[in-house]
Amino acid sequence: MAHYSRIEDTVPGKPMAMTANWISDQRSGYKASQNRFPRTLICFSALLSLVMFIAIAVVVCMQLKQGSVSWEEAEEPSATPHRLVCYYSTLDADVDADALSLLDVPGDLCTHINIGIASLDMPRCGWVHDCGRCCRTRRCFRAAHPQVKLLLWIGGADSGTQFARMVAIHAMRKKFLRSLKALLRLYPALDGIDLDWEFPSAYDKDRQHLSQLLYEIRQEWRRERRPNALLSLAVAAPEGIAFYAYDTREINLYADYVNLMAYDFHFYRKDTPFTGLNAPLYAHATDMSIMATFNINYTVHWWLQNGLEPHRLVVGLPTYGHSFTLVSPLNHRIGAPASGYGQCGQYGYTTLSQTCECAARYLKPIYSYDTETCSPYLSGLQEWISYENQTSIACKPSFIKSLNPGGVMVFSLNTDDLRNSCRFRATSEGDHKPIFPLTQAVKGILDGEGTLRER
Ligand SMILES: *[C@@H]1O[C@H](CO)[C@@H](O)[C@H](O)[C@H]1NC(C)=O
Ligand SMILES: *[C@@H]1O[C@H](CO)[C@@H](O)[C@H](O)[C@H]1NC(C)=O
Repeated sequence: MAHYSRIEDTVPGKPMAMTANWISDQRSGYKASQNRFPRTLICFSALLSLVMFIAIAVVVCMQLKQGSVSWEEAEEPSATPHRLVCYYSTLDADVDADALSLLDVPGDLCTHINIGIASLDMPRCGWVHDCGRCCRTRRCFRAAHPQVKLLLWIGGADSGTQFARMVAIHAMRKKFLRSLKALLRLYPALDGIDLDWEFPSAYDKDRQHLSQLLYEIRQEWRRERRPNALLSLAVAAPEGIAFYAYDTREINLYADYVNLMAYDFHFYRKDTPFTGLNAPLYAHATDMSIMATFNINYTVHWWLQNGLEPHRLVVGLPTYGHSFTLVSPLNHRIGAPASGYGQCGQYGYTTLSQTCECAARYLKPIYSYDTETCSPYLSGLQEWISYENQTSIACKPSFIKSLNPGGVMVFSLNTDDLRNSCRFRATSEGDHKPIFPLTQAVKGILDGEGTLRER
């Protein structure tokens, strides 16, 4: 669906949403170029040294048995740790303000961390380098707690054609499975993988091939005796994409759960040149026809009505926002005419820290809150930003919990208020560790009265 094309258009190397670090190279990798394949493996290996170090830290430093909590245990009613899946991207601290060390992620924050982005062909290893550097010190792994599941996040916003090419041909899928096997063997700290194909199309039997890939991964893991390995899928929320892209029956059979990307419902595009909310809980009064389907409630219901088992549904929430340039500062409603991305952030994506830093520079920022959709937005002269704060991010899971799904996902740890720019933490506390006010707020709701999955 055209709605997502803008995201896929964004420039590689851009830090946010699903676009980070994906470098597409038509010539390499799974196009079966024989002499390039070993290089691909080397790249993957370099990436996963991060994960291996975590394994070492977990096993050696924390002196715990390498066996980790299995899902059967994890879902016992008494334990009730419902999933809080967090996306985390390894970025270069020198060039990227959203860079974050895994070391700084509290071990009790997320139940699952999807580390990425690993690309299918990985023609360059630039960012692998950086994570190698960060991981040289043992301090890095203090954040690694044995109960946290670590998944390799494969794909990303520009992964469409690579995935399509790989899944379509039996030999390519086998090659993918072989490299996966090598990786999991080399880095036992990995609990599984998250496939982020954006998105299978309505053509070329993409949907069928995706199901085939899921099946083959499971078969392979059965042969390798990995009954607890996790296989998750990041999936599109809008029904216009999801209808063609996924076979929920097959997903129920082979995937542990899906991470529903219930965000990016509105952002600046030439064909939708008006302001809108990134992740509205419900349709807004001004949303007509198809726009009224671009919200969390509608898409979550769509997935459930189309057969996805509720306990496999992990509903994604954003920590980032979208900025717009208003045509007129006087019209700053939801649905007001916009002429482009805002100045704040990059390509219209703003981390929460950036949002608060921008707002602090505006002369008289106007803060608004749309109670109907649990969404704050702010404007300052021509700038308009849809974002999340602790109120909105707590409001949404409260609704989600009522549907009793398999958990909540957050995209991403990097785009939370790492720099404490929103002053959610008293500055007197002094330490400069990144904080995760939004992710913490989601965790608070999940931990609060009434568990997400009561059984
Ligand atoms: C939520 O979605 C369902 C299914 O589409 C719909 O019936 C219901 O009216 C929606 N709730 C709100 C408050 O919009
Ligand atoms: C979230 O934003 C709204 C609108 O500005 C505000 O009323 C609310 O207090 C904010 N929540 C927090 C926790 O700051």
